[in-house]
Amino acid sequence: MTAATPAPSTTESATRRFPPGFVWGASTAAYQVEGAAREDGRTPSIWDTFSHTPGRTLNGDTGDVACDHYHRYRDDVALMSRLGLGAYRFSVSWSRVQPTGRGPAVQQGLDFYRALTDELLDAGITPVLTLYHWDLPQELEDAGGWPARETAYRFADYAALVGEALGDRVEMWTTLNEPWCSAFLGYGSGVHAPGRTDPAAALHAAHHLNLAHGLGVSALRTVLPSRAQAMVSLNPAAVRPRSDSEADLDAARRIDALANRVFTGPMLHGRYDEDLFADTARITDWSCVRDGDLELIHQPLDALCVNYYTPSLVSAVDSGDVERSDGHGASAHSPWPGAGRVAFHQPPGARTDMGWSIDPTGLSDLLLGFTREVPGLPLYITENGAACADEPDATGRVDDPERIAYLHGHLAAVHRAMAEGADVRGYFLWSLLDNFEWAYGYTKRFGAVHVDYATQRRTPKSSAAWYAEVCRTGLLPG
Ligand code: NOJ
Repeated sequence: MTAATPAPSTTESATRRFPPGFVWGASTAAYQVEGAAREDGRTPSIWDTFSHTPGRTLNGDTGDVACDHYHRYRDDVALMSRLGLGAYRFSVSWSRVQPTGRGPAVQQGLDFYRALTDELLDAGITPVLTLYHWDLPQELEDAGGWPARETAYRFADYAALVGEALGDRVEMWTTLNEPWCSAFLGYGSGVHAPGRTDPAAALHAAHHLNLAHGLGVSALRTVLPSRAQAMVSLNPAAVRPRSDSEADLDAARRIDALANRVFTGPMLHGRYDEDLFADTARITDWSCVRDGDLELIHQPLDALCVNYYTPSLVSAVDSGDVERSDGHGASAHSPWPGAGRVAFHQPPGARTDMGWSIDPTGLSDLLLGFTREVPGLPLYITENGAACADEPDATGRVDDPERIAYLHGHLAAVHRAMAEGADVRGYFLWSLLDNFEWAYGYTKRFGAVHVDYATQRRTPKSSAAWYAEVCRTGLLPG
């Protein structure tokens, strides 16, 4: 772990200053931006299969072309440079570099990431690499996917392979992005690839993702120089009970177990909590957890990365309640195996185009919560942002004041948490570009840069100019 950065300045004026060295970045993910789905030896991932299955994504959208970033990466890096980004977080497409999920690498695939990272380094932008952002090679899914233990070992080999190839130029590594989504949306509610709806499989997937993370960190440590940082990006839920009734507090506890502690328990503390096992006992006996697994998963980390969008307001279900969706898409199957009947509520107030309520206090609560839970562990925010219905006006300008307000509110919350002791080292906006928003296809726009998918024209929105100024100055205007 590196030394703590100084706390941000708190002045009389409303302007907030972030400390020197604070990392300002933006994020994307391979399947959401690259396109070139069948080029240079890449084989289908579960997201290719899923998106090509009728009815799985809105309008039948796929990532076949996406933002064509595979061919336009030079222009995109030039754009990042104009925005003054200090760092760019991207993911590697597993099936582009190791098409069957095992065996030797495809050189062309690795060459793409070498070229991308060289371009970034030449522009003075720090590459931040995610090994797994949801696109499992289809062959590995056919062999059992994440519910199968073998997939964790395949991931460790893949981590070593990518580490060896790019370790000379990438210093910041994360193993998994949001394993909750991979396990519970992929195998529980089925709204994400591979679209399975098997509660036991979802819980086993969660354990094997934990194991993959631990084995992946160990593999990275053996091939990377000692200065490299190994991390993981989680999407912890800021869970809030609707009331302090015993029933609502218990509903919040159950969601906290299945959203948060199922990952943070083993990764940060080397344990699964008893209440998680008790809640899910009807579904699995957890015999997938073998002797020694918790030690393998509990690897020292250089930082913890947090993705945050909206809090979760929950209650027990009583007669007047509607068990509404939790914001992750409609399915007859729950992504919360063992949680029992829990209602998710829409807090009053503004929402983004995803229907997600806007509440930056969820982010500061999470940052301060981790500061108490794992003192001394540096934190990054690797995703935060808003979907807005952005379209160019008659002059071609894309004005997105709602996104600016969202970013402003959340950066103020980060600053507040830092002033109260959270050791936050950087912030990555989701997303650099409008892109393929999974089951929502191209209908949701998260980018600071607008993409016209018909022409692939990029148009920085007004939020891009606003964020560029924050990156340049390290100051959040009042
Ligand atoms: C989390 C995911 O990591 C990213 O892929 C997704 O697009 C954003 N959230 C917005 O939903």
